[in-house]
Amino acid sequence: MARKLLIDCDPGIDDALAITIALFAPDVDVVAITATEGNVAAAQASCNVQSIVEQLDPPRYPRLGMARGGDAPLTVDARRIHGEDGLGNTGFVVSRLHHGHPSEKIITDLIREEKENLTILTLGPLTNIARVFGADPSLASSVGRLVMMGGSIQAGGNVTPAAEFNMHCDPVSAAAVFRSPSTKILVPLDVTQQCAEGLSFIDELPPDTTRAGRFLRCIVPFLFRSVRQHLGLEVVYLHDVLALLVALYPERFETSEVAGDVELEGNLCRGATVFDRRPRPDWRTNMEAVVRLDGPWVRSKLRDLIDLAGQRSGH
Ligand code: BDR
Ligand code: CA
Repeated sequence: MARKLLIDCDPGIDDALAITIALFAPDVDVVAITATEGNVAAAQASCNVQSIVEQLDPPRYPRLGMARGGDAPLTVDARRIHGEDGLGNTGFVVSRLHHGHPSEKIITDLIREEKENLTILTLGPLTNIARVFGADPSLASSVGRLVMMGGSIQAGGNVTPAAEFNMHCDPVSAAAVFRSPSTKILVPLDVTQQCAEGLSFIDELPPDTTRAGRFLRCIVPFLFRSVRQHLGLEVVYLHDVLALLVALYPERFETSEVAGDVELEGNLCRGATVFDRRPRPDWRTNMEAVVRLDGPWVRSKLRDLIDLAGQRSGH
């Protein structure tokens, strides 16, 4: 039976690439895509989830969830990296504005329906997941597996010197999810920064005669331009795509049991993830973290799946 996958995300160009791959990947059924605030504000993230699916027109439409803003206003976003609209200023028009259910309702319903068959992949701040687990704590232990892109073990931060973007946006929710009794795998910056692609990646995208190729060729070049301009990098890190690969092929990654928490306060360290790595830790382990990846396998699997998205998405 195909694995059921719910993607909770804040698109975002790397989120959009992960969604494109997932919608056409073999052996996985993307049952829902739920929006959360992060790279862009809640309304824009919701609109982007809809326009990504409409641009790709997959054979099976997932349920779509609309984001509600966070409890506190966002203090940071990533529009300079992903564009004012989060998708490289492409100005995609959504054909009909979807007045769907809130993301939290879709996540709650699917955990109740699918239980341990469901993998939840989070590509943005953990706001929705914390609200779902907060409203009904029994759901945390029902979900099969939660794969979270975020945090950092030894790699420092990206949005601040200490914190990774998804954790920094909503550290209170991240801490609540870390402490929940769910089966979790963290995909931190330490490994996502090893999933880097240079400019030639654009030439390897599917041709623009395919739906997936047209879509990706519209959005991906913007990411290369913005990271070069604002971060001085010649490569892009495909953080969210690596997290998708972990959700689809967990057995291909080396993980380690870790005891993690999130710093909630502070001018310098808000949103930093902290792990008890002392020889005799006091903290109890509460998740696995990906600690090593097979670079050649990741590169080749990524290309295979992107090619497949081109072939399967039609013209
Ligand atoms: C995360 O931050 C966002 O900008 C990306 O989409 C990714 O989810 C990496 O820190
Ligand atoms: Ca993201």
